[in-house]
Amino acid sequence: MKPYIIAPSILSADFTRLGEQIAEAESAGADWLHVDVMDGHFVPNLTMGPFVVEACRRATKLPLDVHLMIEHPENLLEAFAKAGASHIIVHVETCPDIAGTLKTIKSLGCKAGVTLNPATPASDLELALPLADQVLVMTVHPGYSGQEFMPEMLSKVAEIRRRLDALHSSAWLEVDGGISAATISRVREAGADAFVAASAVFHHPDGIAAGIRSLRKVLPN
Ligand code: DX5
Ligand code: ZN
Repeated sequence: MKPYIIAPSILSADFTRLGEQIAEAESAGADWLHVDVMDGHFVPNLTMGPFVVEACRRATKLPLDVHLMIEHPENLLEAFAKAGASHIIVHVETCPDIAGTLKTIKSLGCKAGVTLNPATPASDLELALPLADQVLVMTVHPGYSGQEFMPEMLSKVAEIRRRLDALHSSAWLEVDGGISAATISRVREAGADAFVAASAVFHHPDGIAAGIRSLRKVLPN
């Protein structure tokens, strides 16, 4: 069986000490580092771009899991790949030619991921699933960290797990939004094997390492 992946999202990190916080997450056993890119159009918030990805690339050896919440992601794929993204995840809602976009990401040497908003049905991934290295199910409305997990997304996780299994796909099934020690078991049981967490890691009262440990503790070995 593949190991479970914990991917801390730097959206809740202290940006005055980003390098230190990334190093702390890495030494505490984070598997990937999740970078939330927002453009103020596809989602209301505005965050970081290739420049920050490039800084993260110098701060860690961990794979950089770059989640693009932006319109016209095709215009920036090369810039993110050059900046050092390991995985590039695009929203199916922003890609009129999702198969072509996933192929472009792969041709740039990155793992190709697809994601979908809570309101988007799993069936919209039909053309993407055979090509995706990774599928990310949003379990909050994208835009901000610290929101509450949407339990109604559990059936979508289970449905996508069934569809991936039917395709004999080895893609990661990742979840993002409201993941904590209290919610991670339910999404794992529904079929997820990679878990993004911002506040549960970077805002844990006992620190980043304790945040990662609290998630790992409730996953089977
Ligand atoms: C939400 C982002 C998430 C966010 C998760 O728009 O895609 O990655 O940082 O934050 P938490 O884990 O606090 O819900
Ligand atoms: Zn994200």
